[in-house]
Amino acid sequence: MSAKPRKILVTSALPYANGSIHLGHLVEYIQTDIWSRFQRMSGNECHYVCADDTHGTPIMLRAEQEGITPEALIERVHNEHFTDFKGFDIAFDNYYSTNSDENRELSRSIYKQLKANNLIDIRTIEQLYDPQKEMFLPDRFVKGGCPKCKAEDQYGDSCEACGATYSPTELIKPYSAVSGATPVMKESEHHFFKLGECENFLKQWLLESGDKAPLQTEAANKISEWFESGLKDWDISRDAPYFGFEIPDAPGKYFYVWLDAPIGYMASFKNLCDKKGLDFDSYWKPDSEAEVYHFIGKDILYFHALFWPATLKFSGYRTPTKVCVHGFLTVNGQKMSKSRGTFIMARTYLNHLKPDYLRYYFAAKLSDRIEDIDLNMEDFVARVNSNLVGKYINIASRSAGFIKKRYDNKLCNKLDATGQTMLQTIQAKQADIAALYEARQFSEAMREIMALADIANEYVDETKPWVLAKEEGQEENLHQICTSIVNAFRLLTIYLKPVLPPLTEQVEDFLNIEPLVWTDAESLLLGHEIKPYKHMITRIEQKQIDALLAESADTLKAQQPSPARHGEQQQNKEDKQITDSTDDTIQFDDFAKVDLRIARIVKADHVEGADKLLQLTLDIGEAKTRNVFAGIKSAYAPEDLEGKLTVMVANLAPRKMRFGISEGMVLAAGPGGKELWILEPHEGAQPGMKVK
Ligand code: MSP
Ligand code: ZN
Repeated sequence: MSAKPRKILVTSALPYANGSIHLGHLVEYIQTDIWSRFQRMSGNECHYVCADDTHGTPIMLRAEQEGITPEALIERVHNEHFTDFKGFDIAFDNYYSTNSDENRELSRSIYKQLKANNLIDIRTIEQLYDPQKEMFLPDRFVKGGCPKCKAEDQYGDSCEACGATYSPTELIKPYSAVSGATPVMKESEHHFFKLGECENFLKQWLLESGDKAPLQTEAANKISEWFESGLKDWDISRDAPYFGFEIPDAPGKYFYVWLDAPIGYMASFKNLCDKKGLDFDSYWKPDSEAEVYHFIGKDILYFHALFWPATLKFSGYRTPTKVCVHGFLTVNGQKMSKSRGTFIMARTYLNHLKPDYLRYYFAAKLSDRIEDIDLNMEDFVARVNSNLVGKYINIASRSAGFIKKRYDNKLCNKLDATGQTMLQTIQAKQADIAALYEARQFSEAMREIMALADIANEYVDETKPWVLAKEEGQEENLHQICTSIVNAFRLLTIYLKPVLPPLTEQVEDFLNIEPLVWTDAESLLLGHEIKPYKHMITRIEQKQIDALLAESADTLKAQQPSPARHGEQQQNKEDKQITDSTDDTIQFDDFAKVDLRIARIVKADHVEGADKLLQLTLDIGEAKTRNVFAGIKSAYAPEDLEGKLTVMVANLAPRKMRFGISEGMVLAAGPGGKELWILEPHEGAQPGMKVK
């Protein structure tokens, strides 16, 4: 470990202020938080800052839809985001907003510097304009027919039916997604950042290799492809109406949200510096010795690896030390999906499960690579239960009882030889594990730590304290063994501390010690009084997962969709904020997952207290019948249904409803009320047959 503490500024991407935090976001915030906690624990001066990304057209329109000001919207969302992050123990040193004075100042002065360096160009461009709403339309706010496959209602930049990309002017019968009006072409002056002229600098910046490389190889390769296709100048202005910062000396023109968003990293840090008396310049001046680490998802690489370093360089600041890129979260191998209930919001998760479980699981999956990471629910339960609870926490419970009962909660002053060797093995891994944390190879770190937990458990199995406890004359021996076990537990806790903050606090309380730091692994805890062992974390039960998925499906139905995201980078990502339409088209594989079965309604009953539901007992050729609550009471009396065949979704996750658990869904069609018909297959179909 280096003697001189490093000065490190760490950031995560700034979440948009018009959507809730979901588990996908948390991959990033948890990854960054683990890394920063590790740095602080290692004695480095590490500041982790973030903020809400508050500007742009989607936020402006969203506020309008809700009938509130953008300021009111972003304040409400700020509070929600803040609470969600706290719930997952993300320890920001500052969580700010891009709509701040610091950010306005910095954005303007950076713009002025770029202009002074002759890197701003003003050109007239033609764009689609909504004559009714009197605003220019970002690509995503124009819809129409796909010029290639003719699919209707496609967005202005790409077709979700055939995957074609095009410009909004090519759409067949375009219309404004804001007002429905037919857009017209209109000229306007735009400000461009001459990115093309920064190419040499960027190439040089990206060429740094080894420890100095600012990007992972995969990301650097991606950038090379972009170099090959040539760097286009970047349009950094938008016309009023726009929620953002006005450009100096250009009335009615605003900075495009992606200009001031990354400057928001600096602004949040500036705000922290003012509060804490830190020296902002010592972090941001060109020859700064401090390190700046940005953690981001792969979809926003273009902004962080091209625009951002170029902006910094040519406005007189230092460039980032590293841009650390992670992949996207999938759930059960597929993109998070509202219809499957796997689009899980942070808050919904916290209603059912502890943050430590997810933090541990993500740590066990995260690496320094850009590949997507999968949250497989079965694997999640299995890993947390067998590793976190089974291997790690259990070590404490296997010895603490004896220490309390027989030794007044006091640890011994001496250790047995085998115990010593076991502890040395664990201590010997301190540097390796530190290197893995530093390199963001968390999954490797977790593997190493669990291998050490195995060694500790083997020691317990071999020494058998519960047997010794029954033998005569083993008092001293047993005391030493139990002390070794508690020490193994303490060492593992040090190694896991960046990942499991709330759990570690409980352990520190149990061990009756000061907050653990990384170098504490070099010493042992002897002759010390601990506290009685209390249960710290329990296994996850399947019913918690079921309830989480059920609530998730429910909340999403009630909520306005938040953006679904593409894995690929998009230059104009702002425009992707508007809907989650990509989530509405499903692939064939998705469809193939739906298990449709012929069902016979063996029984139909009224449900007390429910005005829309009937309770159906369905035979689908399995040993057990299914219980389904169906909202078809307005159209059917129970006696009309009994004996009928219908079609059910047989593999829908069970949902807990007020009246009981619903184990599937029957299919019905019609506008509602009396006009609702359950699907009735022709005779000949048998209960249990698969619908194809
Ligand atoms: N506001 C921009 C970032 C501006 S940074 C100057 C933005 N916001 S976001 O809310 O859409 O995403 C915030 C971060 O979360 C991004 O790094 C993004 O890649 C990450 N993720 C959002 N959805 C994700 C998954 N499903 N999986 C993993 N990370 C994801 O982009
Ligand atoms: Zn198409």
